[in-house]
Amino acid sequence: MAHIGRADSAADRARAAALLRAGELVAFPTETVYGLGADATDSRAVAAIFAAKQRPAFNPLIAHLADDEAVEAFAVWNEAARALALAFWPGALTLVLPRVAGCAIVEIASAGLDSVALRVPSHVDAHALLTAVARPIAAPSANRSGRISPTTAAHVRDELGEAVAMILDGGPCAIGLESTVVGFQHDRPVLLRPGGIALEQMAAVVGAFATAEETALPSAPGQLASHYAPNKTLRLNALEIDQGEVLLGFGPGGAGAHNLSPHGDLIEAAANLFAMLRVLDAAPGRAIAVAPIPEMGLGRAINDRLRRAAAARPESGP
Ligand code: TXA
Ligand code: MG
Repeated sequence: MAHIGRADSAADRARAAALLRAGELVAFPTETVYGLGADATDSRAVAAIFAAKQRPAFNPLIAHLADDEAVEAFAVWNEAARALALAFWPGALTLVLPRVAGCAIVEIASAGLDSVALRVPSHVDAHALLTAVARPIAAPSANRSGRISPTTAAHVRDELGEAVAMILDGGPCAIGLESTVVGFQHDRPVLLRPGGIALEQMAAVVGAFATAEETALPSAPGQLASHYAPNKTLRLNALEIDQGEVLLGFGPGGAGAHNLSPHGDLIEAAANLFAMLRVLDAAPGRAIAVAPIPEMGLGRAINDRLRRAAAARPESGP
């Protein structure tokens, strides 16, 4: 079982940084969700991420950087990307940019695409870890592929504790939803995955985004219809609960112990989403009924995760 260290301990971070530099897997907290980290310049280490998560090889990874000055070494900026980075980095935003010639981030991290996904996280201990490693760190969410993303160290231990050398515990993640992924077509931003930075916030900085219909870009390759899946089935936009269901409420009036936000606050709801799904999944009952969530702000990302969690699952592989 993985050694669990404290993310706020300089000694534990130094140990984690040494493990990462030696090609080992280390799970670490970010402001969004816990990441399953590996040296993004080491193809064996990156391959170990795909193996540990049972992640399809066509699904590329995000490389995490300590600061935006490192971007040029790996990718080509454009004006809109710079404006978004200036406004939202460090933070819950991932930019998909063309790889520079000779990019040191290994090609399997990009799943063979000519682009690379980059993020500068704001979590202070993640930042300190990235500074100590002094290499880009590839890190998907630290869950098995297709399952609920982890927002505590215990979630990571339960799911991937055997596969990682060390877990840095930084307590619960403040945002609780993955980063927003933005790509570019002719330098115009395109939303590839809704996440911790709301579309409205980004549009206020760079204007309207190109819609999926206007572009030939596929959404993020990892955006499979079924994802974030609990074991129970999920019923969305439930106005009341049926026999055998447990309720995941939102807003006042949603009776029951599990309410994403009794005050109807979408930021609080995002922070509670994955942990409450795990708790309800372990509770008695056959299904989870989820109250309606408004399709605005972080509600877009919450609804995106809920739709995928509710989607029909592919037969589980070998
Ligand atoms: O908040 C987050 O983004 C967390 C933390 C750990 O940083 N990471 C995360 O990674 O959610 P992951 O691997 O679970 O999701 C990364 C998403 C996937 O949907 C993937 O397809 C997309 O980013 N992506 C990565 N590289 C891409 C690329 N070159 N082009 C398009 N999409 C890309
Ligand atoms: Mg994920």
